[in-house]
This record gives sequence, C-alpha cells and structure tokens, in this order.
Amino acid sequence: MESTLIGTSKWDLDTPALCVDLDVFERNIATMQTKLAAMHVASRPHAKSHRCPAVARRQLAAGSIGICAAKISEAEVFSANGIAPILMTTSNVSANKIRRAMALRKANPQFIQAVDYPQNARDLDAAAAASGIVADVVVDVAIGTRSGVPAGDQALALAQLVDTLPHLTLRGLICYDGSAQHIKGFTHRRDQTLKRFEPSLATYERFTRAGLSTEIFSGGGTGTYNILPQASSALTDVQVGSYVFMDCQYLEIGGESNEQVYTDFDPSLTVLTTVLNTYFARSITTDAGAKALTLNRPGPWVIGEKGFAYDAGSDEFGVITYETAEKSYTVGDTLELIVPHCDPVVNEYDQMYAIRNGRVEAVWPILARGHSQ
Ligand SMILES: Cc1ncc(COP(=O)(O)O)c(C=O)c1O
Repeated sequence: MESTLIGTSKWDLDTPALCVDLDVFERNIATMQTKLAAMHVASRPHAKSHRCPAVARRQLAAGSIGICAAKISEAEVFSANGIAPILMTTSNVSANKIRRAMALRKANPQFIQAVDYPQNARDLDAAAAASGIVADVVVDVAIGTRSGVPAGDQALALAQLVDTLPHLTLRGLICYDGSAQHIKGFTHRRDQTLKRFEPSLATYERFTRAGLSTEIFSGGGTGTYNILPQASSALTDVQVGSYVFMDCQYLEIGGESNEQVYTDFDPSLTVLTTVLNTYFARSITTDAGAKALTLNRPGPWVIGEKGFAYDAGSDEFGVITYETAEKSYTVGDTLELIVPHCDPVVNEYDQMYAIRNGRVEAVWPILARGHSQ
C-alpha cells in the first residue's frame, strides 16, 4: 500500500522512483502565476507534461484558467477526475475519437476541442448534432508545419465555416510554436518567437475584423511564456507545460537573466536510482535506464556531480562514466537525477512521490500515464 510510505525518507524508496520536490514545485507554480499576472496573461497549463490530476488541481487552485490536453484519452482521465476546464490542443480526426470528444463535451460542458481542417469541423458538427450538443471549438493556427491550419486565408475561412455550423461554437484560436521553445539564448529565442508569431497575430486581427470570436487567443510554452505576451496584449493565456517540473532540455536553453542556464524555474522533478555496480574504473552502473529515463537527450544530470556522463541507453541499467567524482560511490548508494525531458519520463511511472524536506508527503497517481490514444 503506497499510503504506508507517507513520512518515509525519500532515500529509502525503492528505485527507480519518480519524485517531485513540493517546495520547488509550488514555487514554480507561484512564480509563473506572478510573472503572468504582471503581463496580464493567464495560464492554461498543458497537462501532457504531468498526466496527473493532483498536479492539475494545484495549478487550478493557484489561478490557472484551465488545462490543455494532447490526447482524447488523457482528456477523459482528467475530466473523470474532476478537472473540468480542458482545452484539447490536438485535433481528433478518426470517427471514433470524434465521437469520444463529443461525448466528453456532453459530459463536461467546459471541454473545448481544437480543429484545423474544414472537413474535421463538419465531422465535429455532425457528431455534436448526434450527441444533441453544441460544442466549443478553437481553430488551431499553425506556426511551422507540425499541425494546425496555415495562418491567413485558410485559417480565416475555417473560422468562418465553424461560425456557420449550427452545432459548433467558435471560441477563438490557439497557436503553439513547438520549435521556438528550446531555441538557445534568450535574445535569439525572443527575436525568433516574435517573428514566427507575426502571421498568427495578423490572423487574430483578421478574426476580430470579421467579427469572429477571439475570446481565446492562446499560445506559448515554458520557453516563451515571457516573450509571447510582448507580441500582443490580446493574448489571453499561455499553454505552459514543463515549468512545473523543468528538465535538462529546458535548463540548457538559457533565460533572460542568465544566457547559459534557464533559471526562471527550478527542477522539481527527479528520479532516484540505486548504484548496482562499481567494480570497473571510472564507471558506475545504476538501476535507471531507458525505461526509467527514456532515450531523450541530453542524458540525465546527476545532482552533486559536474563531470558525470549518464548513458540511459540500456533498458534496465544506467551507465555513468567519469574522470573525477566529488565523492566515492558504493553498491547500494542512491543518486538523484534531473530528468532529460519531463513529459515522457513521467509517462514511465504509475505514481510520483511528493516530497517535502526529504520525506514523502503524498503519493500522486499519474492516472493518465500511457493514455496516448
Ligand atoms: C500544443 C502545446 N502547448 C503547450 C505545450 C507545453 O510546452 P512546454 O512544456 O514547452 O511548456 C506543448 C508541449 O509540447 C504543446 O504541444
């Protein structure tokens, strides 16, 4: 029974163990809320980063206006666990997923669906009609080529179509720039982000001139939360995800006050791993490999050691190589790691241990883990 672990020292947990340091986690949430409030922008955190209703509840309690979801199965879990304001940022294109999305909208009137193709809008409209509802949708306006309708004429035409469909209500537009978030160096990231955002902004203005709803004008992530609001005071919210946990990928990008390390938020998420083998010179084997940390690059950072290269390439083992170490290690020692990329690492675990002052304060089930459909 996990609850019997309450009060346990984190160093006594069976490993690999996913931990979240509550003081840091709460500070990250508070920092984001304070900084966004000063810019008159709300947060609508992306729940793909944590897949955990306990985390979403804390984000909403701190003032977030809702959460985002990437997959319909993920959205269903959050809704079933009491998280109502959900914006699904990915379109659902298969008949069954469209049905599920509209069923979710019927059960949860605060569910909003993204759309990026005219036929998809017609299919959603038909499914909404079949469910006896009028469903809320936002137009996903592309920045780059991953997803979304191209900005400009096509986006405007899609919004106008949605506006005429009887079983859909247009709520506005979303525009997330996945390629901008990890641009290294704040100045470079800011310049690129603002430039890449211009077509979305022009599209927003065309929506308003056409009398279309722009009640939601959402975009941005952890790497651009303090940049995008500079582009337009019309931006309603940022879809920040990783800021609650942070990870090596984000630490590397540099921030406004520190070009080398991104220090706006601190790493709250760690994996604890046990040393299994130290027979071999300048090498340590641990019990956290690809299934505990994923193959994302850069490799995990060992807290307290600067010169360790951690290779998580083996399924069940991590292999650390080093020239010098701050201390000597022996079999059974526990190491604490900052994870390469928080989203997929969280997805490897059933629960995370919420730690305060080194002890387990709560165990949070990651209820939407594996919900990638
Ligand atoms: C559509 C969308 N919005 C927001 C986010 C959150 O981004 P981040 O974790 O960089 O804050 C993501 C992450 O991939 C995303 O795909």
